[in-house]
Amino acid sequence: MKAGVGLVSSLVLFLLIGAVFTQRPRPKRPTKRPPTTRKPPVRKPVGPTEPEPQEPTDFPPPILGPPSIFPDCPRECLCHPSYPNSLNCENRNLRKVPIIPLRIHYLYLQNNYISEVTAEAFNNATEVRWINLANNRIQKIDKQVFEKIPALLYLYVQKNQLKEVPSGLPATLEQLRLDRNLISKIPAGAFNKMENLTLLDLHYNQLSDINLGKNTLKDLKSLMQLNLAHNVLKKMPSGVPGNIIQLYLDKNRIDDIPKDYFKDFTHLAFVRLNYNQLSDKGLPKTVFNVSTLLDLQLAHNQLTAIPFFNSHLEHLHLNHNSIESINGTEICPYEMQADLSDDSLVPRLRYLRLDGNHLHPPIPLDVIMCFRHLHSIII
Ligand SMILES: *[C@@H]1O[C@H](CO)[C@@H](O)[C@H](O)[C@H]1NC(C)=O
Ligand SMILES: *[C@@H]1O[C@H](CO)[C@@H](O)[C@H](O)[C@H]1NC(C)=O
Ligand SMILES: *[C@@H]1O[C@H](CO)[C@@H](O)[C@H](O)[C@H]1NC(C)=O
Ligand SMILES: *[C@@H]1O[C@H](CO)[C@@H](O)[C@H](O)[C@H]1NC(C)=O
Repeated sequence: MKAGVGLVSSLVLFLLIGAVFTQRPRPKRPTKRPPTTRKPPVRKPVGPTEPEPQEPTDFPPPILGPPSIFPDCPRECLCHPSYPNSLNCENRNLRKVPIIPLRIHYLYLQNNYISEVTAEAFNNATEVRWINLANNRIQKIDKQVFEKIPALLYLYVQKNQLKEVPSGLPATLEQLRLDRNLISKIPAGAFNKMENLTLLDLHYNQLSDINLGKNTLKDLKSLMQLNLAHNVLKKMPSGVPGNIIQLYLDKNRIDDIPKDYFKDFTHLAFVRLNYNQLSDKGLPKTVFNVSTLLDLQLAHNQLTAIPFFNSHLEHLHLNHNSIESINGTEICPYEMQADLSDDSLVPRLRYLRLDGNHLHPPIPLDVIMCFRHLHSIII
């Protein structure tokens, strides 16, 4: 009898242990299962190395999130309970945009395999303010998408495969990042009425002079940062709005600057023209005499002389040109005789790069006499 009880109880114990053991891996299963059940063509249980020939692409399957307290949270995304207005769908192997719930303001879709953005996903997403679509494979964003999200402020679509600036962008935009695409076309009126746009990033595309006609940027009254670096421009872009602060044009093929190009800019402080084809001939003598300018970068061009600049300039990059000599008297932006008394007249230049030219130390005395705030000069 006792033995029987012992046997029964150890059997019960065994069953319990068995239950515990079989239960232990179970919590993982629900997260593992959906990817395989989502692929109907797979017949056999799939080993990790087995190829999946039925998949339309080589991309790994979408990663599904844990169950959410929000019933409207798409399974492909994360919905943080403390950020009810954010939808985190980044890094989840997505091929398409999931259905966006109405409560969402901030939408993170970067680092996926999305190739097209269509309107259906946004049918209820009328409150969206920010969208990050960076680093996908987007070739097209349907115009209708933007009709659904009329309050959009930030749109980040850098590192994709767009061939043109999307049409129908909302006039509400404040930041637009389209860098690192294949853009060679800006449809007429693409930036019309965007009176609040402060940042436009188009660097690393295939834009040429014809894309930047007088009217392309004309409505962008609030524009502060314009990045057109790494395109195929031969001329300075026309119609750049007068309130601009940063103008980046590195890595183009610009070989001259019109005489009054910078005349009408009232806040221009940062100009980058590194890696262009500027020579002395292409630079009118006082073209950079702009009193708001703080940082001027002209590295990797073909200059043989130091251009004249305003006494307010603080940083000047002239490295990797063909400069052979410096005449401190000529480049000094004020009369050296009238100096010592008034410090506000002393040129503000603090940092000067001249390495990669045909210059040799020592630095001429008149340079040191004139630029008394110079902290570092690299020859
Ligand atoms: C949009 O919202 C309505 C009501 O909130 C809901 O019935 C509908 O299913 C939603 N549509 C989509 C595509 O989620
Ligand atoms: C620009 O911003 C102002 C102030 O926030 C706002 O009143 C105006 O409607 C905005 N313009 C557009 C086109 O959204
Ligand atoms: C440079 O601009 C200043 C005004 O900022 C002006 O007073 C000065 O005469 C100009 N210098 C030259 C050489 O054009
Ligand atoms: C520098 O330029 C001034 C004015 O053009 C000239 O008088 C002077 O001789 C030059 N100095 C040198 C070392 O060439």
